[in-house]
Amino acid sequence: MSVLDQVIRERRSTRHFSDEIPSKGLIESVIEAGLLAPFAAASSSNRYARRFVVVSRGNSVLLKLADVVQKQAQKAFEELSRQSDAVPEFGVKAKNFLGRLEMTMKQGPLGIGSAPYYIVVAEPKGIPEAQMQSIAHCMQNMWLKATELGLGFQLVSITGQMGDNSDFCKLVNLPVGEYKMDGCAIGYPALNLPPRPEYPSVSEITTWLL
Ligand SMILES: Cc1cc2nc3c(=O)[nH]c(=O)nc-3n(C[C@H](O)[C@H](O)[C@H](O)COP(=O)(O)O)c2cc1C
Repeated sequence: MSVLDQVIRERRSTRHFSDEIPSKGLIESVIEAGLLAPFAAASSSNRYARRFVVVSRGNSVLLKLADVVQKQAQKAFEELSRQSDAVPEFGVKAKNFLGRLEMTMKQGPLGIGSAPYYIVVAEPKGIPEAQMQSIAHCMQNMWLKATELGLGFQLVSITGQMGDNSDFCKLVNLPVGEYKMDGCAIGYPALNLPPRPEYPSVSEITTWLL
């Protein structure tokens, strides 16, 4: 098996991190991998406009960010609950996400404070709006690099809802409303993850039109 195949197989979501702090050099290598990921050039006026904000657990900003995100989750929960009550079919579809929001609202956002580093990846909004796809490519590169380095990685996708939140944007030093963003947590995994559940085979889920 090639190294790439192995890293792709080993990549998992880490949700429990140890207290050990990865070196700045390791985090920089992960960011370098993200930096090299494709970006939506046609929807960007700048040649390279992707930005990274690394917040360490040692910085008091991290707790403030967690607090702001928790409040945002509460707002989103209330809004989605209203919509679910009004349209029951919508409520059925939104049930899982509503549960996640409720957990974030009650316990705070997983990944902001539970790992040594929380990293925000941001790209200025453009036309067409392709920034979230672009950021997803970046996250995947970072995730694979983190895996290769033995680091745990968790997506903190509620970060995607924070671009218009002025408190959040001030804390991460980005202009309010101008960027699309996503986030991740990085540290050393605290536990060995259970094996992946069984996935279907390629042939089961692929249609060939030859
Ligand atoms: C768009 C997207 C958003 C996600 N958001 C989160 C998140 O906010 N928190 C989290 O713990 N995992 C998040 N995940 C991770 C998935 O739950 C995870 O990848 C999936 O359950 C498969 O598990 P694995 O990553 O261990 O292979 C997200 C994944 C994707 C693709």
